[in-house]
Amino acid sequence: MSNKMWGGRFTSAPDAIMEEINTSIGFDQRLYAQDIAGSKAHAAMLAAQGIIAGEDAQKIQEGLDTILSEIEAGTFTFRRELEDIHMNVESRLAELIGASAGRLHTARSRNDQVATDFRLYMRDTIDALDAQLADLQKALAEKAIAHADTVMPGFTHLQTAQPVTFGHHLMAYVEMTARDRSRFKDARARLNECPLGSAALAGTSFPINREATAAALGFARPTANSLDAVSDRDFVMETLASASICAVHLSRFAEEVVIWTSPSFALVKLSDAFTTGSSIMPQKRNPDAAELVRAKAGRIIGALTGILVVMKGLPLAYAKDMQEDKEGAFDALSALSLVIAASAGMVRDLTPDAGRMKAAAGQGYSTATDLADWLVRALNIPFREAHHITGRIVGIAADKGIALDEVPLSEMKSVDPRITDDVYSVLSVECSVTSRTSYGGTAPERVRAQAERWLKLLNGE
Ligand code: ARG
Repeated sequence: MSNKMWGGRFTSAPDAIMEEINTSIGFDQRLYAQDIAGSKAHAAMLAAQGIIAGEDAQKIQEGLDTILSEIEAGTFTFRRELEDIHMNVESRLAELIGASAGRLHTARSRNDQVATDFRLYMRDTIDALDAQLADLQKALAEKAIAHADTVMPGFTHLQTAQPVTFGHHLMAYVEMTARDRSRFKDARARLNECPLGSAALAGTSFPINREATAAALGFARPTANSLDAVSDRDFVMETLASASICAVHLSRFAEEVVIWTSPSFALVKLSDAFTTGSSIMPQKRNPDAAELVRAKAGRIIGALTGILVVMKGLPLAYAKDMQEDKEGAFDALSALSLVIAASAGMVRDLTPDAGRMKAAAGQGYSTATDLADWLVRALNIPFREAHHITGRIVGIAADKGIALDEVPLSEMKSVDPRITDDVYSVLSVECSVTSRTSYGGTAPERVRAQAERWLKLLNGE
């Protein structure tokens, strides 16, 4: 049997492999709600403009409502030979209401239809991700307040650098997540224009009202160029770029959880709820959730790369290549949703080991910068010279295998006779973090203020 939709031109059915490569219903059925909403807005507009009869529009609306409930009840039969969600819905509509169904596709093409559906889908997905990201921020800020005073080692090059507070470290991710949310918001604002009525590529000769369909679907405005509207998928790229950056942030967090929970570090514990055991090694507690959060960034970035490569050489306007825009995006955005939920779960679950954190924070001469700063402040020594003096004192400590605050004053004086007893007051890790009160710094009072500011903001959302 030739296809119902274009049977006028075609006399025989497609080859089986043609159908196999061409069909998208297996994945684009996910767009059913958006597709039906788009069709309802289109039919109402056609009737309001006197392009189709009110009676036909009425039947179309009712038929589409029936189809929606059939799909939601799981009684709708999706048919591969009907290619995609658009033709599956339209074909069922014809079964339900007869000839009136044929009027729905007036002044419309699947090209503007799919672009509209997918933008609507992205908008809904971005809204759902935004709510999840806000929840993650809340989890981070709450944990940060609880650990505003908990001292931990701060690293550069993964070498102990300076003491920081655990709360400060968590708040870094609140800021990153804030930028992720703002990137999604920007993408949403740019994609929120309605392609419907662009038709196949050139617009239509019917007196349609594109403002009306755009408004009915909650878009800010109709797209201004019909070729652009059916040709571009930059809204997919931009959403996936935002998703990729967000996934990279959470992958870094996950990597830190892996490091912190490793017995060699043992700075943080995850409960049974977020770890797994080993089938052979009874002692193991593996941070699998963190590892999978880390790994899923790979497929999300893969989807971004995929759509960029699919689109990069396509001439305007629509080409079937663009049907490849969906699976990667669906997969990546569900993966991101899972990653955000798992990250929030781990943040709420984890417990830092304050004792080990403090001990680790003091290792590796982490308060050497405090000593140098003291030389500048107390003795008015230029910072470069202070750095040199401190380096020599660290050398003495390293030779003796002792901590910086264990170096006797006589040894310090042998490096620079101006040094006094007062220097020991800045060498503890607590003093180090408490002193870093500059805006954005790690001092507990700063961390508490930032976390409180964020929680107020988040709770007001
Ligand atoms: N399933 C198609 C897609 O996802 C819908 C648009 C088809 N348009 C066409 N001219 N064949 O891209």
